[in-house]
Amino acid sequence: MVGYAVAMAITRGAAVDVDRLVDALAHSGLAVGSDRADVRVVHAPGRVNLIGEHTDYNDGFVLPAAIDLGVSIAFWPTEDRRIELISAESGELAAIDLEDIGPRRGTWADYIAGTAWAMVEAGLPISGFRGVLDSTLPAGAGLSSSAAIELAAAWALSRGDEPAMDPMRLAQTAQHAENAYVGVRCGLMDQFAVVFGRVGHAQVLDCRSLEHRPVALPAGVALIVCHTGQPRRLATSEFNTRRQECERAAAEIARLDDRVRALRDVSPELLERSRPRLDATAFRRARHVVGENGRVMSMISALERGDIPAIGQLLAASHASLRDDFEVSSHELDALVEVATMAPGTIGARMTGAGFGGCTINLVHDDAVDGFGAAMLAGYRDRTGLVPGVFMVRAVDGAHRVADAKGGSVA
Ligand code: GLA
Repeated sequence: MVGYAVAMAITRGAAVDVDRLVDALAHSGLAVGSDRADVRVVHAPGRVNLIGEHTDYNDGFVLPAAIDLGVSIAFWPTEDRRIELISAESGELAAIDLEDIGPRRGTWADYIAGTAWAMVEAGLPISGFRGVLDSTLPAGAGLSSSAAIELAAAWALSRGDEPAMDPMRLAQTAQHAENAYVGVRCGLMDQFAVVFGRVGHAQVLDCRSLEHRPVALPAGVALIVCHTGQPRRLATSEFNTRRQECERAAAEIARLDDRVRALRDVSPELLERSRPRLDATAFRRARHVVGENGRVMSMISALERGDIPAIGQLLAASHASLRDDFEVSSHELDALVEVATMAPGTIGARMTGAGFGGCTINLVHDDAVDGFGAAMLAGYRDRTGLVPGVFMVRAVDGAHRVADAKGGSVA
């Protein structure tokens, strides 16, 4: 009985179930054709960031991996200039006229409409479709469901073909949709991870030069995402505030050294020298970013030399800095990290993504995964009264078209 409860506590990522999606489309009530072979399915993964948090919009370094939880769209391409897309989960319809996209509405349809708008701005051809959108990403969990929707939409708007532009520009186009249409001033990390994901690897990105490369994840180590069970709070407004605080700090430090264009350019020594000029908040925000950029570099070399204790220490230091200096953790995230850190077989844990609720990333020895799930369930409930989501994920490839449905009638 106990073993059963533990097994149930851990959700594993899964391959896209094409037949189920095609059935959902057939029963959606949308006016679609009758041959299953005409249905196309595209998929965009979510992401988890190993380390390098709130560094992307400071021109710094990030190390995310695309994961086997994500967003799929099954659709019939159409010749009209209209999108009708139904959420499989809520049944809500997003209807968008591609000739007149209009302003944002304040719903999930904005990610689709914004992507269409940004693709047109970038000079890409787009076309209409009728579709069903399905997500295996927990909602509001900070695993980049928005970037996954944007990139799945980009592929559907391109009739299921790879959008005809350089992949980095595609990631930037999706980021532009979120910045300029949805109104979140996010950096490039999420869209980059969703486009460039690679099986078994994280990807390091230099957010200034846009140079990137895959970094192999260690063998025998599981990636486990734990969800607080609480949606993110105030995420958009607090996120935009953090970004302004970082810009304020960089502008002030630049008065001491005019080579500073962003916090990326600030060394620990320069930060110390700047301390008297900065208000306490700006100083702590900057200290997080300066330290976190260094931790990304240290993490890459720890991963490459298989230094498991160093990996754990870097994750712990990142969490402490996000909690104390950047102030984006929460009581629940701290509880998840503390419980995980005490569980046997844990290498390290920290909050991941923007924060203010959402998820933690945990590196756990393969043979300790079940015990980890049980420890999280019991320990987190004791501390918070909440049940955590525990997801064992794998690093996967980026957005793509999934093998088409087989022929036959949809009825
Ligand atoms: C969100 C943003 C990213 C990044 C992270 C924090 O996920 O979309 O661009 O800033 O927060 O690292």
